[in-house]
Amino acid sequence: MVSIVKEKRITTAVASWLFACVLISAGPCRAERAPAHAVASAHPLATQAGVEILERGGNAFDAAIAVSAALGVVEPFSSGFGGGGFWLIHRSDDGKQVMIDGRETAPALAHERMYRDAQDNVIRDASMKGPLAAGIPGMPAGLVHLAEHYGRLPLRQSLAPAIRYAEQGFKVTSRYHRLAAYMTDTLNQYPAAAGIFLQNGKPPRIGYQVRQEDLARTIEAIAEKGLDGFYRGPIAQRMVREARKHGGIWSLEDLSAYRVVEREPIVASYRGTRIVSAPPPSSGGIVMAQALRMLEQFDLDEMSSVQRKHHIVEAMRRAFRDRAVFLGDPDFVDVPTDRLLDQSYLEGLALTIDAANATPSDILGNGPAPPQAGTQTTHFSVLDKEGNRVAGTLSVNTLFGACFVTQGTGVLFNNEMDDFSVKRLTPNAYGLIGDEANAIAPGKRPLSSMTPTFLETPERIGIVGTPGGSRIISMVLLAALDFADGGLPQSWVSLRRFHHQYQPDQVQFELHGLTEFEQQRLAGLGHELREISRRYGNMQAILWDQAENRVYSASDPRGEGLAVVVE
Ligand code: GLY
Repeated sequence: MVSIVKEKRITTAVASWLFACVLISAGPCRAERAPAHAVASAHPLATQAGVEILERGGNAFDAAIAVSAALGVVEPFSSGFGGGGFWLIHRSDDGKQVMIDGRETAPALAHERMYRDAQDNVIRDASMKGPLAAGIPGMPAGLVHLAEHYGRLPLRQSLAPAIRYAEQGFKVTSRYHRLAAYMTDTLNQYPAAAGIFLQNGKPPRIGYQVRQEDLARTIEAIAEKGLDGFYRGPIAQRMVREARKHGGIWSLEDLSAYRVVEREPIVASYRGTRIVSAPPPSSGGIVMAQALRMLEQFDLDEMSSVQRKHHIVEAMRRAFRDRAVFLGDPDFVDVPTDRLLDQSYLEGLALTIDAANATPSDILGNGPAPPQAGTQTTHFSVLDKEGNRVAGTLSVNTLFGACFVTQGTGVLFNNEMDDFSVKRLTPNAYGLIGDEANAIAPGKRPLSSMTPTFLETPERIGIVGTPGGSRIISMVLLAALDFADGGLPQSWVSLRRFHHQYQPDQVQFELHGLTEFEQQRLAGLGHELREISRRYGNMQAILWDQAENRVYSASDPRGEGLAVVVE
């Protein structure tokens, strides 16, 4: 029988492992096989979908397909078939580590000035709402790629839970209700979207069943025909026709030309921890690696909590400055990865950190002060007993993406085009600024902050990630520091969070993220502080302690997710 346990229970399997280990070896013992599967995701139904597939003989990659697809159904405000994502994978057979890049691409008719008026002013809504805001989706292609190259089960089987959830519906929770309430006006501008995600034009009551029969048929088409089910044929035709009718610019060629790309992860080290993370077109791996290499120049353990936070903030500030200037889609711009990760360059940057004063961002480079908006996207982590693992971060960008659904397909369009720099040094929805490297061009992928990550020492393997826009990177960075200090997943997901992204030049922190004392002292060092009136992030994490041969998993207490370890 399957038993599902929350973390921290020592199982019989673990006890016999430890006994065998002591008998056989006097030296350090390291398990090659995990004693349990684990799945952590932002929604209980998605976690259950992953467990179901693992229990039917699927591996972590099949489970990742099931969890991704299920999240796209039950968390439509975060990710979906009309969006994209990054799947960082580790295959235990041969140790292959790669990131499957299913990021959206700009349509062929996209151009640098497409979200500006005749006076060159940014038309804010154009890159946020409706089909003009949508890039060509990568999620379906990512799932097909995972199934064809890494999975063990047929796609139809891995997609079955998502099809079931779409057909039978899922219950509205208080979180869904709150997020739908926030987007009600925009959803109501697009009747097909309002018809599915609202209840008579209003946020659905808690317990209301959201059914998506059209989406179920679309997922079935992908299950049967693979890429052709979505990127060619009747569904593709319908999406293009509807998008065009509502001001979009997608073409059938854009859809049929979409390809996922396998990319080599960014690998960095911090005090004995190997960090494997997302490469461009994500900024996450490079920004985090830069910050950690700067921080390695200091002994954080010896510092007061205020000095520790001051140094982390200063490292974030410098790394996010380079993000704004240098990062974009590597298929279009020459991202100077080696130079950005060069040891002496980063040691030099670390030397510019003044222990007694905040460095004004303006002296590092220019940038206007922007607002901060939504923080959607989603994450899941999976480990199977063979040691295969997946960290997947998926998105439609801001809440409910473009809020636009093509009639008859159930596909909710993303608004990832806003992740491009729509105008030089003009902030996007996350307040992030960018330069030429992230300018819009046909076929190009917008720069992302999604940071699915593995944390590795010879004896401990962490799988981690979170939604949260630009703050994703700082949240994963804080988790990596905690991992390096020996913390467990429950601690990573619960950490109090703070953030700096170069511009706006302020330390942002979640509700209770800094103590009064820390706030006073950081202000005294010259930092401008901004408390976000709520807690943020939704981290999903797994740890396989190979020395103890024990698996832990944890879901962020800020969300409604579920983390399980299945013996
Ligand atoms: N759309 C959020 C991100 O990719 O960073």
